[in-house]
Amino acid sequence: MFLGIDAGTSSIKVLVLDDAHRVVASADTPLELQRPHPLWSEQHPEDWWTALTLAMQRLRDQGVDTRAIQAVGYSGQMHGAVLLDAAGGVLRPAILWNDGRSGAACEALMRQPSFLAASGNLAMPGFTAPKLMWLREQEPDVFARVATVLLPKDWLRWRMSGERVSDMSDASGTLWLDIARRAWSDDLLQMSGLRREQMPRLVEGNAVAGQLTPKAAQELGLTAGIPLAGGAGDNAASAVGVGASRVGEGFVSLGTSGVIFCISAAHQPNPAQGLHAFAHALPGLWHGMSVMLSAASAIDWAQRTLGFASVAALFAAVEALSPAQQDESPLFLPYLSGERTPHNNPHASAVWMGLRHGQSNAQMAYAVVEGVSFGLMDGASAMGATFDAARELALTGGGSRSAFWATLLASGLDRPLFLPEHGDVGAALGAARLAWMALGATPQEACAAPGAADSARRFAPQAALRERLLPRHQRHQRLYRALREEFVPAAD
Ligand code: XUL
Repeated sequence: MFLGIDAGTSSIKVLVLDDAHRVVASADTPLELQRPHPLWSEQHPEDWWTALTLAMQRLRDQGVDTRAIQAVGYSGQMHGAVLLDAAGGVLRPAILWNDGRSGAACEALMRQPSFLAASGNLAMPGFTAPKLMWLREQEPDVFARVATVLLPKDWLRWRMSGERVSDMSDASGTLWLDIARRAWSDDLLQMSGLRREQMPRLVEGNAVAGQLTPKAAQELGLTAGIPLAGGAGDNAASAVGVGASRVGEGFVSLGTSGVIFCISAAHQPNPAQGLHAFAHALPGLWHGMSVMLSAASAIDWAQRTLGFASVAALFAAVEALSPAQQDESPLFLPYLSGERTPHNNPHASAVWMGLRHGQSNAQMAYAVVEGVSFGLMDGASAMGATFDAARELALTGGGSRSAFWATLLASGLDRPLFLPEHGDVGAALGAARLAWMALGATPQEACAAPGAADSARRFAPQAALRERLLPRHQRHQRLYRALREEFVPAAD
């Protein structure tokens, strides 16, 4: 049996997988966020440890023989900075991915002439490098004592093994990695005032990164000496969880935000359009990732604003529209929280265009479903050759419950979509599969062949629907361009 630990922002999840691909059990423990100042978002690493020990106890309470677990893998919230002193003590609470205090540091990085070519990714406050630049300015005494910077899941492994190690996918989100070479970049480190000695050793996600110490084994109810895999950032781990292990495989996630993740054979950056271009969790593979900030959350907003009793009621009304009524619906720009890929515009906002007497709230709701889909299509275009290679993609997240939306999206993206087994626990499952691979399974053995056997769980692009969508998509793109200058910062 293999254990996957998913060190998320709102909970620590654990999942046990066996070598017949069965999910034996899973458990989780919730986590709190601390926001001591506006824009700040922090957690104390010791709280992760406490949550992990509780989650392990919950597995044992379900009757799982945790001592029979043969290896451990990790998935983690990305980008967070855990700062250790020379003795391995935690210097301050971890600064998380959703912390916004480092905007000025991002601007400073972007002004460095060689930054974009070296990083392949825009500097955003979520990433790790600007957090350390903030620390150097605002807490210089702490900065001077930083012996090692670890990412959240890597701190858990350090606690379990004493080893300071990270994996390529999670390290990609620091802005210190030369992503094409899969090695730390001295140039990028120097831009944050850091040195290579302060970085963990790097391994591939499916390689052995350390062994469990007797003390940690005792605390977690595991067996001392079992291997701990490199693991992955949460998106790469989710990809492994849906079975994505080859070029052209990946997923579309319709959560609060909307993500398209696609595996490529090379690093194919496009920072100008806010694409994340990172290493995958498996050797010799990279991935492109587009992030739109309001996806299923835009549908929830429309449900409340337009007065539907539930999201299911909204979709029922939208599905009852005839093709002609859909074509006569307004257009909707879905930028309720600004946009990352492809516009990189935090000031963009949502817009309905083309309202008329006689239109129904179902047509306004259709426009929102379609507008989010158009945003995802724009994200796919920003991926260029990486998306061109995509064959079929898994569909995950709350929005995947609507067959209507899945068909519309498959048609817009011109790719079949399928609902993977265990899509709800994808990251923890991916972590467990990486543990299995660290024991010798090949990626193809551990990632059960992607695709759903049951055709009811597969959504093929429909040519006639695509024909109807494309002219509306072009108008949608022109609408954003026409309004771009009108989006200004919201008043405080
Ligand atoms: C990725 C990202 C999130 C975090 C939190 O760039 O910011 O996926 O890893 O889950």
